[in-house]
Amino acid sequence: MRDVKISLVGYGIVGHGVVDVLSRKKSLVRDMGLNLKLVSVTDHTGTVLAEDGVDPNQILGERTLENVATSGMKGKEAISAIDSELVIEVTPTNIVHGQPGLGHMEAALSSGKHVVTSNKGPLVVSYSRLKKLAEDNGVMLKFEATVGGTMPLISLVERTLVGNSISGIRGIFNGTCNYILTRMTEEGIPYTHALSEAQDMGIAEADPSYDVEGVDTAGKVVILANSLFNMDVKYSDVDVTGITGVTPQALALAKKRGYAIKLIGDVPALTVRPTLVPLGSPIAVSGTLNSAAIYTDLSGTITVTGLGAGSIETASAILTDIISIYRTKRIDAIF
Ligand SMILES: NC(=O)c1ccc[n+]([C@@H]2O[C@H](COP(=O)([O-])OP(=O)(O)OC[C@H]3O[C@@H](n4cnc5c(N)ncnc54)[C@H](OP(=O)(O)O)[C@@H]3O)[C@@H](O)[C@H]2O)c1
Repeated sequence: MRDVKISLVGYGIVGHGVVDVLSRKKSLVRDMGLNLKLVSVTDHTGTVLAEDGVDPNQILGERTLENVATSGMKGKEAISAIDSELVIEVTPTNIVHGQPGLGHMEAALSSGKHVVTSNKGPLVVSYSRLKKLAEDNGVMLKFEATVGGTMPLISLVERTLVGNSISGIRGIFNGTCNYILTRMTEEGIPYTHALSEAQDMGIAEADPSYDVEGVDTAGKVVILANSLFNMDVKYSDVDVTGITGVTPQALALAKKRGYAIKLIGDVPALTVRPTLVPLGSPIAVSGTLNSAAIYTDLSGTITVTGLGAGSIETASAILTDIISIYRTKRIDAIF
């Protein structure tokens, strides 16, 4: 049995999901020969430390670690000082400066720890530098959960489709926008009405601009471009139009002509814009679903769809990344 000591940084929606999923899947992962041991959980208030593994029952009912922290260590200090070999980084996304996640990832990688993350910010701001830091330190940086949540997109291209050349990826990468456009189409309601419905249901933030202006989708386009297309692009290289100008009349007219209007991110075109998609096309999914069409030379077009967000769903992508690190190491050893 291989022991893997893990530190979790960030204890919000995804952090709670990670603690839950690591606990639920403990025996399944043990059957693969891995004992994933969560030795620390850190948020902005401090750290819960336990050499034999943090007890999920002790922390899952707590919104923050304020009342249960066993150490005052925070952020980079905790990452460097704690004896672990893998850091799960799930603090809030900031695509302007990448912090605090960027500093956390730099600290982890430079002390020879693998990083698995759902945080887009550091990758949008500094992908090539983080990748080089990982290579220089002989560790891995995995980020499936940053694009499309549970949708297996990055691993699908990097591993399953490894013999193919990929000419493009187009898709719906933001569930909030997709929900709003779906409701506007179904009910013929204006944007503001569909937005407040989404806010009431907890699908959209109080300040929805990050989603509806296309910023979130553009961040994902940058990550896909840099990681899967070997491009070296920044957020400002993406031509972005959000969904705030889409009207129920435009949606109704499109539908009459056999189309849906969806917010589509396109790589390598580096565009995010409301786009006509034929009804019945595999990427024209509804509600909060995400989708991606991958255009390949050998396999034609492959389409994946799935939940783009959610606590357990995002944690599932993180668990898959963790397991893949140790499977890859075994394959590397064979070669
Ligand atoms: N939620 C989803 O479904 C989803 C899906 C895919 C990707 N993501 C991404 O995953 C990341 C986490 O998302 P989330 O929904 O879990 O966000 P969240 O609920 O806001 O949680 C973020 C956590 O990080 C903590 N934090 C903030 N600054 C910190 C610091 N300097 N050191 C340690 N902890 C710090 C926050 O504490 P306070 O809140 O107390 O400040 C909170 O516990 C984000 O980057 C998000 O974009 C989320």
